[in-house]
Amino acid sequence: MSVQLSVQGLCKRFGGVVASDDVSFDLKSEEHLAVIGPNGAGKSTLFKMIGGQLRPDAGQIRFDGHDITKAGPRAVWRSGLGQTFQITATFSSFTVRENVQIALMSLNRQTRNLWAAAHELHRDEAQALIDAVGIGDFAERSCGVLAYGDLKRVELAIALASRPRLLMMDEPTAGMAPAERRALMDLVTKMARREGMGILFTEHDMDIVFGHADRVLVLDQGCIVAQGSPDAVRADAKVQEIYLGTGGMADERV
Ligand SMILES: Nc1ncnc2c1ncn2[C@@H]1O[C@H](COP(=O)(O)OP(=O)(O)OP(=O)(O)O)[C@@H](O)[C@H]1O
Ligand SMILES: [Mg+2]
Repeated sequence: MSVQLSVQGLCKRFGGVVASDDVSFDLKSEEHLAVIGPNGAGKSTLFKMIGGQLRPDAGQIRFDGHDITKAGPRAVWRSGLGQTFQITATFSSFTVRENVQIALMSLNRQTRNLWAAAHELHRDEAQALIDAVGIGDFAERSCGVLAYGDLKRVELAIALASRPRLLMMDEPTAGMAPAERRALMDLVTKMARREGMGILFTEHDMDIVFGHADRVLVLDQGCIVAQGSPDAVRADAKVQEIYLGTGGMADERV
């Protein structure tokens, strides 16, 4: 399989903190790659650099053969790299369907129509996306009244609106009950397998990581300390050591 995302020598400092220290890895097309590591390991920083929210101090990011190191979030999104964030962000006074319609309008550069005929634009497509993530019945509810787990689903529908070839998710199931977490990840991975979409995700729930990733990459203090198959990473002595202080890899949440 060909390389879809290539990250080379990424560095990022915040004052005295080295959040990303020469991080390099490849993700092959259609691969599901999990990035794990303790709090503050640099997972979100890495994702923000790939997603265009943060500019790396050094290094290069290529997606489908194009250099996106200096691309902003919109350009990255339009290039086919969709993403959801650790902190959920939707327009709370708009309905679920309107939030997805706005994303579709933005994608099609129709945001000047926002206050005009917006109501009907991409309505069916938005509804189909909401149905696909399992919250079709909530289409008319405003996002402000949704439970956290359902908001995460809205965010997923928004990320899928661009029909991404790679979906990047920073803790997609944070704040959800265990059964709901598994259901959401089952849904996303099945959808991805069906449509040939790659997934790059971070997750603190080890059941989800080992149950859904083809490959796992471990970060600690900004450095990659291990990568490989879920079984190989689980058995890695360095990884065990990193997680020992918080209860070991056997715990569901580390
Ligand atoms: N904007 C910022 N300004 C200053 N320091 C930052 C900033 N963003 C991140 N950091 C620091 O960089 C390091 C990596 O943070 P990051 O958020 O990438 O970790 P993480 O692995 O996503 O952690 P978590 O599991 O808690 O989400 C941490 O020490 C954090 O305090
Ligand atoms: Mg984070």
